[in-house]
Amino acid sequence: MTNKAQLLFDKANAGKYAIGAFNSASLETIKAITNAAKKLSSPVLIEASPGEVQYVGIKQLVRLVRTYEEELQIPIILNLDHGTDVDVLKKGIDEGFDYVHFDGGKLGFDENVKLAREVVEYAHKRGVMVEGEMDHIEGSSADHTAENTSQYAKSELFTKPEKAKEFAEATGVDVFASFIGNLHGIYANQKHLDLERLHEIKSLLPHTYLSLHGGSGIFDEDVTEAIKLGIIKVNVNSEMRIAFKMTLQEVINSSNEIAVYKFMEKPIAAVQKVVEYKIKLFGSSGRI
Ligand code: 13P
Repeated sequence: MTNKAQLLFDKANAGKYAIGAFNSASLETIKAITNAAKKLSSPVLIEASPGEVQYVGIKQLVRLVRTYEEELQIPIILNLDHGTDVDVLKKGIDEGFDYVHFDGGKLGFDENVKLAREVVEYAHKRGVMVEGEMDHIEGSSADHTAENTSQYAKSELFTKPEKAKEFAEATGVDVFASFIGNLHGIYANQKHLDLERLHEIKSLLPHTYLSLHGGSGIFDEDVTEAIKLGIIKVNVNSEMRIAFKMTLQEVINSSNEIAVYKFMEKPIAAVQKVVEYKIKLFGSSGRI
């Protein structure tokens, strides 16, 4: 299977950089992501969870993203992020997503393998790339108040490299998402990655691309090291959500403006700033 995502990932792999996967559930976030990608000449993934897709509308999201891609002439991989229902992923594929993430992290190993294989078979026939997940990535991008990660940052919960190899071989997923301390959410910058474990995973899965979830609140040095070790995709959501909400709150509190398109300018700019920062950190600027 050779598709747009594969070509972009091959290039990232060879160039030792990663492509940012930015969550979006609104016109405003799509604008922020595409403005940043255009400005920095970077490929990007735009991703949406099933809840985010439902909010925007699946056809609306696909068409909006494709319209920006065509108009701005930037490559965009559209990813259905953290789908737990095989039928929802199949629908995403039918509607024009380039990439789907089957999240079987809460299932038993055998059930996860069975369903991931079903998604892979369906997706590959249609030139769509599949990401698999085996160990539930803890934390939440909907809650940035939790301050202590110690309950989750236990290595017993982290991905076991040998098991990851078994999973990748049994399912044929193109991309693997491991849990190595990369919680979803900010968690007051306490997120440390187990880079040795990542190194081991990469050496056992040399032909599978590796994705890093929980791209908010990880130390920049850890992210850079993870990319050197083979990460080619980093998911980011919470930092963008927080930038949007805080800026919107400020704008609403400090002005009487009622024209939505006017008071959205600053929140869009704030999210764009986050995306630009991440694109530079991941090393994907100037790669188009
Ligand atoms: P953050 O919310 O920590 O950025 O994680 C996002 C993510 O991994 C989406 O799949």
